Parts: sequence; C-alpha cells; structure tokens
Amino acid sequence: MAFMFLRETIRTYRERDPAARSSLEVLLCYPGVHAVMWHTMSHWLWRHDWRLLGRFSSHIARWLTGIEIHPAAKLGRRLVIDHGMGVVIGETAEVGDDCYFYHQVTLGVARTMGGKRHPTVGNNVIIGAGAKVLGPITVGDNARVGSNAVVLDNVPADTTVVGIPARPVDRKLPRDRKAPGFDPYGMPADDSLDPLLRDLAQMHGELAELEARMARLAEAQTRQRQAAAE
Ligand SMILES: CC(C)(COP(=O)(O)OP(=O)(O)OC[C@H]1O[C@@H](n2cnc3c(N)ncnc32)[C@H](O)[C@@H]1OP(=O)(O)O)[C@@H](O)C(=O)NCCC(=O)NCCS
Repeated sequence: MAFMFLRETIRTYRERDPAARSSLEVLLCYPGVHAVMWHTMSHWLWRHDWRLLGRFSSHIARWLTGIEIHPAAKLGRRLVIDHGMGVVIGETAEVGDDCYFYHQVTLGVARTMGGKRHPTVGNNVIIGAGAKVLGPITVGDNARVGSNAVVLDNVPADTTVVGIPARPVDRKLPRDRKAPGFDPYGMPADDSLDPLLRDLAQMHGELAELEARMARLAEAQTRQRQAAAE
C-alpha cells in the first residue's frame, strides 16, 4: 500500500515538474515527497489517538523538509509540494486530489477561533509561491491562486485569483481546458489562450475566406467572358 502510494507520488512529480529527470532523483531530492510520505505516518498516529507522537513525528518532518503539515490535516492523493520550504498546512485544512503547491504556501487561520478554521482546497488546484489562503474558506476545483496572493474569500471553481486581498482575474479557463491537463506555473502549455496567437488565427481565417471569394469572382468573370465571346 505504502509502496503503491510512493510510486504514484513519484510518477506525479515526474509528470508535472519539468525539472524532474528520474524517479531516483524525485525520491532522493524532493522534500515534498518526503513530507507527504511522512504525513501519512503522522496522520495515522493522530487518527489512532497517538496525538503527541503524531505531533512529534510531523515536527521531525518539518525539521527535515522545511514543510509543516499538522498531523490532523487531510491531504488528497497526488499532492505535489514543489520546492517546499516554508509551506504550512494547518490542523483543520483539507486538500483534494491532484493539487500543486509551491514553496511558502500557507493554508492558515485568518483569525483565532475554534473548530474548522483552515481552508478546504478542491481538486486540481494550483497555489503559487508565497500565497496565503486563510480561514475556513473553500477554493474550488481547478482554481489557481497567484504567487504571493492573500486569499480571504471563497474562490469559485475554474477561477484564477491574484493580489492582496486576492481578486479573480478575468481569465476563466474554458470548460474543455480543465483537468486532466496540467499547466506548470499555472500557465497553459498550449497557445489557445494567448491573445496575439488568437488574433493571428482569426486573421488567417479571414484571409482564407477572402482568397476563396477572389477565386469565385475570378471564375465568374472567366465564365462571363466566355459567354460574351460565344
Ligand atoms: C496567477 C497565475 C497562475 C496567472 O496566470 P494567468 O492566468 O496566465 O494570468 P495572466 O498572466 O494572464 O495575468 C492576468 C492578470 O493578473 C496579473 N497577475 C498574474 N499573476 C499575478 C500575481 N501573482 N500577483 C499579482 N498579479 C498577477 C497579471 O499582471 C495580469 O494583470 P492585467 O490583466 O492587469 O494585465 C500566475 O501568474 C502565477 O502566479 N503562477 C504561479 C507561479 C509560481 O508560483 N511559480 C513559482 C515557481 S518556482
């Protein structure tokens, strides 16, 4: 079971991080892998009421990786924590499947209170370096949080938010461009959203239409000349 989990995690890093060159490199050199593996143990201890041991175990992981994940936090599958240093994931935080966090991401508390006080992050969410997501808010599936954003309100699915406080930028991904495709750094790998390339494609279409009309006109003219000659 643990071996399958490790294999899946390593495969995900190789698929998603352009810098990952081999499985051995991912296993040895990626603190995000170590932190998430370690968390499965700390979380198990926590759930089986070995609370202090769970805390201590997560403290050792933090010491080794620079990534602090509370043992009670619930993490989905295939979470990638790239670079990792300074990441904090609080006690009541929940993270869905296929998320991608960069260094110094905080899933933290906005103001002190009991109960659920950390964010719930959906599936396939990218959170940029240094972003702080604070309070018991929800970040919807496929959302993207820009680097250094401070997110204080719910983020709808398929939305990109940036800034302090974070606000949506007018750039909703079309429905057919959502998961399973992954864009490292939150940038689409294909050119479908580049405004210049979109304009060029439109001009190309218009040019082709003009050429077709010219050809039809020339043909009609030839037919008229032939008819006049007969
Ligand atoms: C948020 C992000 C995903 C946006 O990508 P995008 O959808 O392609 O958005 P655009 O680049 O078209 O930018 C849209 C607008 O948001 C602004 N913007 C983008 N990222 C921003 C950020 N982090 N903070 C503030 N504003 C930002 C742009 O300037 C632009 O503003 P404008 O419309 O006034 O010109 C991307 O900028 C980002 O922050 N990715 C995370 C990268 C990261 O953490 N890398 C670490 C690697 S080690």
